[in-house]
Amino acid sequence: MKVAVFAGDGIGPEVTREAVRVLEALDLPGLVLLEGDVGGVAYKRHGHPLPPETLEVARACDAILFGAVGDFDCDHLERHLRPEQAILGLRKELGLFANLRPATVFKGLEDLTSLRPEVARAIDLLIVRELNGDVYFGEKGIRTLPDGRRQGWDMMSYAEDEVARIAHVGFKAAQGRKGRLCSVDKANVLETSQLWRDVMIEVAREYPDVELSHMYVDNAAMQLVKNPGQFDVIVTGNLFGDILSDQASMCVGSIGLLASASMAVGTKGLYEPIHGSAPDIAGQGKANPMATILSAAMLLRHSFGLEAQAARIEAAVAQALADGIKGGDLGGSQGTAEIGDAVLARL
Ligand code: IPM
Ligand code: MG
Repeated sequence: MKVAVFAGDGIGPEVTREAVRVLEALDLPGLVLLEGDVGGVAYKRHGHPLPPETLEVARACDAILFGAVGDFDCDHLERHLRPEQAILGLRKELGLFANLRPATVFKGLEDLTSLRPEVARAIDLLIVRELNGDVYFGEKGIRTLPDGRRQGWDMMSYAEDEVARIAHVGFKAAQGRKGRLCSVDKANVLETSQLWRDVMIEVAREYPDVELSHMYVDNAAMQLVKNPGQFDVIVTGNLFGDILSDQASMCVGSIGLLASASMAVGTKGLYEPIHGSAPDIAGQGKANPMATILSAAMLLRHSFGLEAQAARIEAAVAQALADGIKGGDLGGSQGTAEIGDAVLARL
């Protein structure tokens, strides 16, 4: 059980430290943790946000626990050297095409979401986001038009096999839940989305037990705050999934609570909180490590099949929250290590 721990920038190291303490407390036989530099810190040390030695560790491991990347100091660099390229590079190089972002409201937090408690309480959804394609990985550039104006451009595309592959993940996830899959696109405007929708309908024939629906992304954004309880599994492309998953996090309370898994074919996966590096509070011991701890639970479940241990971690986090342990993101006063201690005590 080889796990790479890539803490990254900003609050990444602090939150990752707590998740590692939780993993170690479980005393799992055969668990080996390896480290590597990613993001701005890797650029500063090695001249690249995803140095070859880090990529090698990632390839050699069964799973990766990832903190966060992003550093304002690096924003002036050419795009291929910016911290974000570490996570984008890992997703691409390792073929991590399926991003699972679950969102549920924890007991005791109903009053802390951005929604009315009775609306929020009904949330129990999973966003399945495609991670290897879309406008994220298309050709892009800034060019000068013949009349001298600068023009930025990014190419959006999906090939049918890329859509089918994520569709299967969405349908299978729905089969294991309430059997409803909502595909989110912008087929009223984009050709990429039209193909996406056509392929979803084709793949649906193999899953007669799943009810497939379609929603335009603008409407989905509205429905997520109006009546989020209607959703079971949402399947969508890279860009729309990025946006909707941040939105979903606010619907359940805090971005400091949302974990994610990014899976390749098989059981290899990368696990990370959906939040970023939060440079404004980095190094102050204030960040909420719960999303990273919950990502470690997903790691045990999806890469190693350790369902009981994963559930133990999730129960410990839920109990800590129910007992009033809250980080600043939830209006509480507990710091990073204190929250880690609280979860460990309940484990
Ligand atoms: C996410 C993040 C990344 C993304 C950034 C850091 C490149 O926002 O994982 O949601 O856009 O995918
Ligand atoms: Mg995002």
